[in-house]
Amino acid sequence: MNHDLAIRLREGTKHSHTMAENTAYMKCFLKGVVKTQPFRKLLSNLYFVYSALEAELSIHCHHAVVSKIYFPQLNRKAHLEEDLAYYYGNNWRELIAPSEAGRNYVAHIHEIANTEPALLVAHAYVRYLGDLSGGQGLKSIVCSALELPAHSGTRFYEFDAFPSIAAIREFKGQYRDALNSLPVDEELATKIIAEANYAFSLNRDVLHSLEPEVKAAIGENLFAEITSESKPGSTENSSGDSSENLATVD
Ligand code: HEM
Repeated sequence: MNHDLAIRLREGTKHSHTMAENTAYMKCFLKGVVKTQPFRKLLSNLYFVYSALEAELSIHCHHAVVSKIYFPQLNRKAHLEEDLAYYYGNNWRELIAPSEAGRNYVAHIHEIANTEPALLVAHAYVRYLGDLSGGQGLKSIVCSALELPAHSGTRFYEFDAFPSIAAIREFKGQYRDALNSLPVDEELATKIIAEANYAFSLNRDVLHSLEPEVKAAIGENLFAEITSESKPGSTENSSGDSSENLATVD
């Protein structure tokens, strides 16, 4: 197959990526202003999203397209469970619930899995490649902002199968090769790129839904000050690896 899906996904979603980075939630995050309540709410929503995504990927793991990007070593659900127990205590399951935006995201994942499972590729790409990229920088920000002990409260960002920056980088290359080898025609490739943009918008909706939590945690004034500036996008350059631009990010 010669559809260059990896680079087309990167290029075709860079505007969406910039918008995600420019959400109020992420701007505060990048300024190092992270508070426990909004952060654990994000993890709660992601727990429902990844539970849905990973269940559907596993159900469709023999699908001709899905099987090529089926890497269970990326699974986040168990690590999110550890983080939720850290932030909410052992009865975390009774204490968490998704926001309406989180519920829509979950419903959408199940819907496409039932109608066109190949589109799960777009959702896996947006979440996992993001976690392996910007997510690695976000981890250091959370650690210092919340003064966390090592490996507590940031398990979500840790990939046991890829313990070093070099291992992550190598795997990202493997993931992009897998995207380029997908048995999809031009029509499906185009649909996957559109679906990835939709996945970004679902993520933005979740982040927007948590803005009241951020405002309540940091106060209206600081919130207004931080969110008035706009940030250039990390994937706006065309190279396949712009991680050098952010000292802490790979
Ligand atoms: C403040 C927040 C964020 C920062 C600082 C950030 C930063 C970055 C950076 C530096 C890269 C490039 C890494 C590389 O070239 O290897 C990247 C890639 C990526 N990010 Fe983000 N990101 C953020 C938020 C998000 C969000 C919210 C999502 C989606 C939910 C996301 C999804 C992605 C994806 C899919 C890629 C891979 C692009 C590609 O090479 O195909 N990012 N991010």
